[in-house]
Amino acid sequence: CGIFGFVAPQPLPASLVIDALRTLEYRGYDSWGIAFLDGDLARERIAVLKRAGRIPASTPNLPATVIALGHTRWATHGGVTDENAHPHLDCTGTLAIVHNGIIENYLPLRRALERSGHRFRSSTDSEIFAHLLEDTIASIEEHHPSASDDIPTLVEAVRHAFNQVRGLNALIALHRPTRQLVAVKSTSPLVLGHGPAGTFVASDAVALVGYTDRIHYLQDDEIALLDHQGLQLFDRCTGQRRSARWEPLTLRPADTSLGGYPHYLIKEIHEQPRVLARIARERLDGARQLADLIRHSYGTFLVGCGTAGYAALCGSYLFSRIARRHVNAVIASEFKYQEHFLTDRSLVIALTQSGETIDVIEAVHAAKRRGATVAALVNVTGSTVARLADFTIPLSAGPEQSVLSTKAYTAKLAILLLTAHILNGSEHVGLDTLWRAIEGMEMALAPATLDRIRAVADRLVDAQHCYVIGRGLSYPTALEAALKIKEVTYIHAEGFAGGELKHGVIALIEDGSPCLVFSPLDETRADILSGAMEVRSRGGWVIGISPEPDEAFHVHIPVADVGDASPLVSIVPAQLLAYELAVRRGLDPDKPRNLAKSVTVK
Ligand code: G6P
Repeated sequence: CGIFGFVAPQPLPASLVIDALRTLEYRGYDSWGIAFLDGDLARERIAVLKRAGRIPASTPNLPATVIALGHTRWATHGGVTDENAHPHLDCTGTLAIVHNGIIENYLPLRRALERSGHRFRSSTDSEIFAHLLEDTIASIEEHHPSASDDIPTLVEAVRHAFNQVRGLNALIALHRPTRQLVAVKSTSPLVLGHGPAGTFVASDAVALVGYTDRIHYLQDDEIALLDHQGLQLFDRCTGQRRSARWEPLTLRPADTSLGGYPHYLIKEIHEQPRVLARIARERLDGARQLADLIRHSYGTFLVGCGTAGYAALCGSYLFSRIARRHVNAVIASEFKYQEHFLTDRSLVIALTQSGETIDVIEAVHAAKRRGATVAALVNVTGSTVARLADFTIPLSAGPEQSVLSTKAYTAKLAILLLTAHILNGSEHVGLDTLWRAIEGMEMALAPATLDRIRAVADRLVDAQHCYVIGRGLSYPTALEAALKIKEVTYIHAEGFAGGELKHGVIALIEDGSPCLVFSPLDETRADILSGAMEVRSRGGWVIGISPEPDEAFHVHIPVADVGDASPLVSIVPAQLLAYELAVRRGLDPDKPRNLAKSVTVK
């Protein structure tokens, strides 16, 4: 979920929250909502506007306010309805809360609150916080009316309430009487910023661009209080005051804009050569250090989820092929079932764009518990994984705003390619191969290639199924290509190791079944082409992504021959095909249904 709030010395338009939520919508877009102080001092109330569905394209006209809080939701507990959208109010209307996470002990808490007279309006776990806080504030005010001298009541109440819930959560509460916001979190990210217009909190620094030029990442053991004076931090255990650790916010508005492209997905696909060129120029040293860690480890694990999981799998092929080194690739959510192999000599390399995927964070914690070293390839530098890791290589791909991961994927592959070559003692070859891949990507993005991809998209627009095959280095590419197609077009696409085709999948091939075949000029070529021929003989429609044409292909999409770097280049036509199909099917390429970019819950 995405969270944004502010407290301002002078009123700001409440609609500003809605604009900020748009930059966070990638975190969830089932529903949205905003709460703000409305009315003059005598009749001040918390106004709430919340709806199921996407944030409307035109921002509603809302009054100016000194305090506001908003949320975009990715549903966990409770269906996608107006009532379940955040913010949630307490019974008295003095508190509004927004929440990201899952309250694991939700049922007993809700039952206890209902027994003591609280009436719930939603079926979310989040609403618990509003009622818990209401009770806790009342109890503090009754028993310790002077608590506000040291620790403000709201901070104390949030501290108590947060300690009663189990799970990984982020909570922000808006309190009408004191005009304060309080923020607390465990694992889920929250970033704070302060500038001339006010004090701000958000779940991603992207939403703070334009309001502040320095940020503080809220720590799990801190509580933040935002009021008209600015920001105060408190220790979550002792309640003592703490100082912020400000970092510069280097993002600029241009980094997060569409820059003339119709969608972020196509913008980010086109950014890939630039991102990789930066890696070739600036990440060699990082790759050398990573190679050193691998060299001295006794067992290396690459972990990631979704697209990053496929980057991990591709990495294991790269290390095997280039460096003759066995590196395990494990899906992060499965890692806990394999952590018994970890020792203090193991190396766990976490691959993650956001650095906030909960399954990756848990894998990192598991590694640390067993004394293993943790390295991370991560795009968001202030993220949880970046902070937990012993060693981090930033992907420096710039904000990836489309829910589909593209440039972060190829950035990870580029670093792994370089690292594998360094391990092998062939750093120059690695660098040269990467530069060839960058040229190859430019070619894949050129109009001539695009025309062929568009023709394929025209034919596939109404397809219900699509099969993708590759072998060796191209096997992870097949999986990633299928993922790109299914997540943004809703066409059922499945990727397979080419050799598996005859062991079952071929039963699905019928007249006209589309099949994408990755066939670089490597040792897999002869075998993958026989597989393609077997599909063709059974009526399948074969699209070959390959440097050379072949009689097995009905359509040939040419790509450059870039040796070991073929996964970096071959994926580009598949990314473009997924985009073109989504556009033709009238779907939003940046926000596919049911998905969120950062999955911060289990
Ligand atoms: C979500 C996104 C995927 C992404 C995965 C891992 O499922 O929809 O596109 O690959 O999370 O994200 P990460 O930020 O850890 O790379």
